[in-house]
Amino acid sequence: MSECILEMRNITKVFSGIKALNYVNLRVKRGEIHALCGENGAGKSTLMKVLSGVYPTGDYEGDIVFEDQVCQFKGIKESEKLGIVIIHQELALVPQLSIAENIFLGNEIGTYGVIDIDETIKQTDTLLEKVGLDEQPSTLITNIGVGKQQLVEIAKAITKNVKILILDEPTAALNESDSENLLQLLLEFKKQGITCIIISHKLNEVMAVSDAVTIIRDGKTIETLYAKNGELSETRIIKGMVGRSLDHRYPEYVPNIGEPYFEVRNWHVFHPTHTDRKILDDINLTIRRGEIVGIAGLMGSGRTELARSIFGKSYGTKITGQLIKAGQEIHLSNVKKAIDEGIAYATEDRKGNGLVLIESITENMSLASLKNCSRGTVIDENEEIKQAELYKDKMRIKSRDVFQEVESLSGGNQQKVVLAKWLLSQPDVLFLDEPTRGIDVGAKYDIYLIIQEMARAGKAVCIISSELPEILGMCDRIYTMNEGRITSETLRGEATQETLMENMTNKVGV
Ligand SMILES: Nc1ncnc2c1ncn2[C@@H]1O[C@H](COP(=O)(O)OP(=O)(O)O)[C@@H](O)[C@H]1O
Ligand SMILES: [Mg+2]
Repeated sequence: MSECILEMRNITKVFSGIKALNYVNLRVKRGEIHALCGENGAGKSTLMKVLSGVYPTGDYEGDIVFEDQVCQFKGIKESEKLGIVIIHQELALVPQLSIAENIFLGNEIGTYGVIDIDETIKQTDTLLEKVGLDEQPSTLITNIGVGKQQLVEIAKAITKNVKILILDEPTAALNESDSENLLQLLLEFKKQGITCIIISHKLNEVMAVSDAVTIIRDGKTIETLYAKNGELSETRIIKGMVGRSLDHRYPEYVPNIGEPYFEVRNWHVFHPTHTDRKILDDINLTIRRGEIVGIAGLMGSGRTELARSIFGKSYGTKITGQLIKAGQEIHLSNVKKAIDEGIAYATEDRKGNGLVLIESITENMSLASLKNCSRGTVIDENEEIKQAELYKDKMRIKSRDVFQEVESLSGGNQQKVVLAKWLLSQPDVLFLDEPTRGIDVGAKYDIYLIIQEMARAGKAVCIISSELPEILGMCDRIYTMNEGRITSETLRGEATQETLMENMTNKVGV
């Protein structure tokens, strides 16, 4: 038995003329945790889809050698049979079925077509214990959070006698403690001899658990680094990913802050359906011209609800309080009014609310600004295309052209399209909700530059982010929120991660 459990040799995969993978090589040793790093669109997911038979033999060039055998998978069933199991970026559970039903879906326990419910429950219990999930087998998927759903996917994977577990950005949507649990579980699996390939942009996690890191850039293997040789460092990984050194994660920038421009006064909001539940309690907030203001808070603190309630009352009921722009009170009773008043809200949920996935980059970008590229009611398509091309270049969006459907873009590039859409609407006030969630360091840097450019142009910018380093690195002034209230306000330079965290969990308002 060789030391290498898996070798992928000279893998080349083409999508309609574009080489997503170009002679990629990957060697994974038995029992190790092997991370794949690379910018959005580098080809990581595609490589793992080749490995697991999502793209079957004949669809790509090159060889997959698993346990010294050349494999030609016709579909994922065949790779699973050998113990190669992939958990995709988008979870594939059925929300209306129970945990147990999901785990054994397509693999039911029973005889003569009759499902053995007792045995199913018993086995589910054992599996849930193994992955450390404290839930009943009968609980519906829709009633548990993403972190727990991820564990159900893993429980499902280990029913399949897994030898290589592949996780494609498993922690992108998880909070810190769920991520921590998941990583602990991977270390546990490692002890049991399971090999793991993990794709992640969170370099601190990669550093914490990986034995080896392979870096992919533009569909090519750059290098593999080994922890035991002391080769793993964030700086080295970043350099490999982006092809240049980023000395600073946040671009150097001297703000030019003007007078107060957008104000929220005595803002109260109630839950849309449980109308006696107060969600936001007496929020007061100011953003100046040219200022980048941050809102830090834990999940559920009310940050997104605040932005959405301001943005044309798209969240909440019984909303009271005032919105002031340039000294004038404005009334934003719906989203159209908000857009007309120059307010933009780039949503954290880009797939759900931010984009029309089956439409092109051009069409998505012009969605919020049709009046700028139309004469009367006719859309000037040339103008629309010209603008899309300008922003594609400016934001370094990786795509074939501006006619590509956004569905086939990687996450970071989708996020850039969302931002371009709002920039094109020429807003005065921007709320950016988790603008860099799930995207890589290179693309983050591009987005930071764009945010700073907007502030430099005198716009009032508000960033909502769960990443405290990002808030500290980007914002001139920082508010913290907890349980629907603003709990602190600090200037750049005065705040630290510790003080912010303290105020994010502090119940006393300012
Ligand atoms: N189904 C598809 N059709 C067309 N292009 C695709 C498809 N899937 C991926 N691509 C392209 O292949 C490249 C690699 O994508 P992907 O493997 O998803 O990157 P990563 O996972 O590293 O972010 C990107 O340029 C992406 O746009
Ligand atoms: Mg991917």
